[in-house]
Amino acid sequence: MPDSVTIRIDGQTVRVPHGTSVAAAIMMNGGFCRTSVQGEPRSAVCGMGICFECRAAVNGVAQQRTCQITCVDEMQVVTHG
Ligand code: FES
Repeated sequence: MPDSVTIRIDGQTVRVPHGTSVAAAIMMNGGFCRTSVQGEPRSAVCGMGICFECRAAVNGVAQQRTCQITCVDEMQVVTHG
């Protein structure tokens, strides 16, 4: 099993340790998950699937709770959705 995986976040290729959640990958790379209706940046709060603050599009599926998804090679993530 490789030590790391490569995903794309908003078109940028990033490499993260194997087993990293998508929410963690977004934060590790200095980003945030989405923008609130008031225009505020939002990111993971609970880390266990309850708050829905970590939503982003993963592999073309919008509004995914990224704290509940583990990164896999070639995954496409779009934030601020
Ligand atoms: S951080 Fe709360 S649902 Fe993902």
